[in-house]
Amino acid sequence: MFSVPLRDDAQLRPLEPWHAEEFAAHLDRAREHIRPWVGPAFVTDDVEGARATLRRYAERQAADGARLFGIWHEGTLIGGVMFVAFDAASGTCEIGCWLEPAGEGHGLITEACRTLLDWAFTTRGLFRAEWHCRADNDRSSAVAKRLGMTLEGVRRSAWPYDGARHDKQLWAVLAPEHRTERA
Ligand SMILES: CC(C)(COP(=O)(O)OP(=O)(O)OC[C@H]1O[C@@H](n2cnc3c(N)ncnc32)[C@H](O)[C@@H]1OP(=O)(O)O)[C@@H](O)C(=O)NCCC(=O)NCCS
Repeated sequence: MFSVPLRDDAQLRPLEPWHAEEFAAHLDRAREHIRPWVGPAFVTDDVEGARATLRRYAERQAADGARLFGIWHEGTLIGGVMFVAFDAASGTCEIGCWLEPAGEGHGLITEACRTLLDWAFTTRGLFRAEWHCRADNDRSSAVAKRLGMTLEGVRRSAWPYDGARHDKQLWAVLAPEHRTERA
């Protein structure tokens, strides 16, 4: 199976329906940590819910759309990155990410996102990658900054959560900017 080393003890691999049990166990460790910041459909409660998420991504991948990748750290699935959207025709994509608490603070997400950006811009010839996050999600906007993204705007009150509405930031990086960042 394809596996990209992020460092000696961490790998990026496709996250597929056959991982449903492992993904559900990981969500048990991640659920309350990610709930305020990710789409509600991603925060499932059991193996069948986890399998439904993995199937949804597999179906979209089969149509050359969204794709999901897990990060394994010392053999444990601790989070991942995804193309939330991927549109080869328009040359645009959106990248997202999540981690369980033990996965934070190791630089694994930034490294994994760079791998996705390299593939989108170099292998697939896309031109623009977006990052959407709640405006008060400081760790997420820090990743966007580390990826060389520009804050393009704020969608006011675009994110309903727990009875309140939150602003949403839109960050993006263009292919030539990413190439300069990587050089
Ligand atoms: C957003 C999220 C994925 C960011 O995780 P993260 O660990 O902060 O991001 P990275 O993997 O890029 O790691 C960067 C951190 O690792 C540290 N680090 C340690 N070793 C490192 C290394 N070798 N290389 C780079 N950074 C390293 C950095 O200093 C930084 O820590 P700091 O912010 O405390 O200074 C995580 O906070 C999360 O899952 N949040 C909840 C869900 C969520 O918000 N998802 C995004 C929705 S838009």
